[in-house]
Amino acid sequence: MTETSRKKVLLGLTGGIAAYKSAELARLLIQDGVDVQVAMTQAACGFITPATMQALSGKPVFTDMWDARVANAMGHIELSRGMDAIIVAPATADFIAKLAAGHADDLLSTLCLARECPLLVAPAMNRQMWGNAATRRNVAQLLKDGIVVLGPASGDQACGEVGMGRMLEAAEIAAAAIACLAPKTLPGVRFLITAGPTFEPIDAVRGITNRSSGKMGHALARAALGAGAKVALISGPVTLPAPAGAEITHVDTAAQMFEAVKRHVTRADIFVGVAAVADYRVDKPRRHKIKKTDESQLQIKLVPNPDILGWVAAQPRAPFCVGFAAESRNLDQYADEKRRRKKVQLMVANLAQEAIGSDDNEVSLLDDSGTRRLARAPKEVVARQIVDHIAKLYGAKRHKTK
Ligand code: PMT
Repeated sequence: MTETSRKKVLLGLTGGIAAYKSAELARLLIQDGVDVQVAMTQAACGFITPATMQALSGKPVFTDMWDARVANAMGHIELSRGMDAIIVAPATADFIAKLAAGHADDLLSTLCLARECPLLVAPAMNRQMWGNAATRRNVAQLLKDGIVVLGPASGDQACGEVGMGRMLEAAEIAAAAIACLAPKTLPGVRFLITAGPTFEPIDAVRGITNRSSGKMGHALARAALGAGAKVALISGPVTLPAPAGAEITHVDTAAQMFEAVKRHVTRADIFVGVAAVADYRVDKPRRHKIKKTDESQLQIKLVPNPDILGWVAAQPRAPFCVGFAAESRNLDQYADEKRRRKKVQLMVANLAQEAIGSDDNEVSLLDDSGTRRLARAPKEVVARQIVDHIAKLYGAKRHKTK
C-alpha cells in the first residue's frame, strides 16, 4: 500500500469510560493500513491520556482549538480536510446532542461540523440516558443527517446496571469503518459465502470437526459488504460475531450447509466457498453417548459428504464461483487441479497448516490468466484484496456476456 493510497481517519474521543476501547480501535485501524489522527475532548483526557493515544497512533494528539501546531489557528478546517472519515468513539449523550444541534464549541465538535467526509459515531452511555426521549430525538436527527450510528450494544455497564448503551467492541467499529472506506466496486452484487468448519456428529456428544475458525470467511463477508455487495453468509460453528449487514445462517454439518446453500444459491451472483467442509461424515451417528467397552477397537464408518462447491459450479445457471484450496504441500499444483476439476473461475490457495485458525494468511489467486501471489497480511487485508480481484474478474465476465 502506498502512502497516498492509505485511507485517513480522524478518530475522536469524548468523555466516557468506553474510551479505553478506543486505544484498541486505533491499533486495529492502523493494523489495517489506515492512517489515524486522534483528537480528544477535555473530558476524554480524564479517562485516557493523550500520551496513550499518541503512542498508539504514532502522531501528536489534538485536544485544543487553539493548538499552535496548526497553521493560521484554523485547526478545525486543517484537521478535517483530507480525511476519508471521522469516527467518534465513544460518543457521549452530550456529544450526540451537540452534533444533532450543530454546535461547535470545542475542537472535536467543530471538526465534525467542518467535515467533508462521512461521520461515524459509536454511542456509549448509561441505559437510562440512551433511552431518554431527548437522546432518542438526537439520534434520529443524526440518522436523518446521514451520520452513521454504530450500536450501541446491550450488556453490563460500568455503572453496574445492565442494558442498552455499551459501546460496540473495537473490532466491530473498526470493521464498520473499513467497510465505509472501501471503494464500492460491487454495488448490489449478491454474494453467497460459506465459512468456518463443519461438525459431523459421532454420537450425542462427540463429533468430527477441524480447526477452521471462520475468520477468513467472515473477513471475506465484511470485505464484500465494504465493496457495496449484499452478503448471505452460511457459517459452521464459530465463536465470531456476525458481520454487521450480512444475512447469516448458522449450521453444524456439511449436509445442513449444503441445504442452506441450495436455498440461497438461486439468488446469488457470486458464490465463495471458504468453509472447511468435512469430506466425510459418520454413517448413522448414535443418538446416545457411546459407552466405553473392553473391546480393543471401535470402528466408525465414514461416508462421503456432498461436494457443495462442485455442485454449485455444475448448476446450469451457476453463479460466478470462487473456491479455496487448503493444501499442506504442492500448493499451486494441487490448487490448480482443484480449480479445473471443480470448474470454478477463481481458486484461492493457502497452506492449511499456516492459514487455519490464524489471524493472517498468505494466498495465491489462480484463474485462467495465471497465478498471482499476495503477501502475508491480516485476513481482513487479504480478504479485501481477494474481493478486489473478484470484482475485476466478475466485471470482465459481465462485460463479455452483455
Ligand atoms: O476459518 P479460518 O481459521 O480463517 O481458516 C481459513 C481456511 C484455511 C479454512 C480457508 O482459507 C480455506 O482454505 N478454506 C477451504 C478449506 C478446504 O476445505 O479446502 P479443500 O481444498 O478441502 O476444499 C476445496 C473447496 O471445496 C473449498 O472451497 C471448500 O469450501 C469446498 N468444499 C470442500 C468439500 C466439500 N464437501 N464441499 C465443498 O464445498
